[in-house]
Amino acid sequence: MSADHLAQLINERIGGKPVDIGLVLGSGLSGLVDVVEDASTIAYSDLEGFPHAGVSGHNPNLVIGKIEGVNVAVFGGRAHYYEHGQADVMRVPMETLKALGAQSVCLTNSAGSLQTAMAPGSQMLITDHLNLSGANPLIGEPGDARFVNMCDAYDPELCAAARRGAKELGVDLHEGVYAWFSGPNFETPAEVRMAGILGADAVGMSTVPEVILARFLGLKVVGFSNVTNMGAGFDEAEISHAQTKEIAAKSASQFQAIIKSFLRQL
Ligand code: HPA
Repeated sequence: MSADHLAQLINERIGGKPVDIGLVLGSGLSGLVDVVEDASTIAYSDLEGFPHAGVSGHNPNLVIGKIEGVNVAVFGGRAHYYEHGQADVMRVPMETLKALGAQSVCLTNSAGSLQTAMAPGSQMLITDHLNLSGANPLIGEPGDARFVNMCDAYDPELCAAARRGAKELGVDLHEGVYAWFSGPNFETPAEVRMAGILGADAVGMSTVPEVILARFLGLKVVGFSNVTNMGAGFDEAEISHAQTKEIAAKSASQFQAIIKSFLRQL
């Protein structure tokens, strides 16, 4: 089914609500679906081509409504490259978001920090990324549109809105470069050191393919990382998915406050 058909189906189900921005929620961050007002929920399993978001800590529903007065489509869960080896696994959701009329997408994730000043429980505005996975969601895409310009991939105006929001909130919003590793294993300490030398401030297993797809589709992008741990080798703490979910849950309220403060600036 094409994205236009999916958007039509969604609009028939929910009565044609406007959508201005999509929010893709990362591991342990799916609580944001609960703050959507006037919410209409559709399970991914009802939407052909949507992934089965099979990772614990994700909520595979599309929730359309308003947050802070902004028309949002919240993707409660994402699928990852490491689940099936398909870098374009989020292509249909991104295309559907565009077909619903959105101009922008806000991508969120949990990440490991490479900056000692950015401790677990901190949030980072993503200003750029490193694709260290070797994968790309546009491989096989025909035509010249695949040669996507990635300068200002993280939209300067949306980044400015995120900074204003955090300032108004009185919360420290760190900034930095996110490096995408394929996962699903966590990085080795040597890989984390390498990423740091190359200019990364945080490491994770998601988001970058969605940024590439969004820019391909002409959607503006803003991205936030919720820091759940220091990168491998930084400290003695054991890194695990359980820890990712636990710290993400603990810092969820501050994370949600940052997203809401960003939305208030739009
Ligand atoms: N590495 C990769 N992905 C992650 C991490 C990490 O340290 N923490 C949360 N997601």
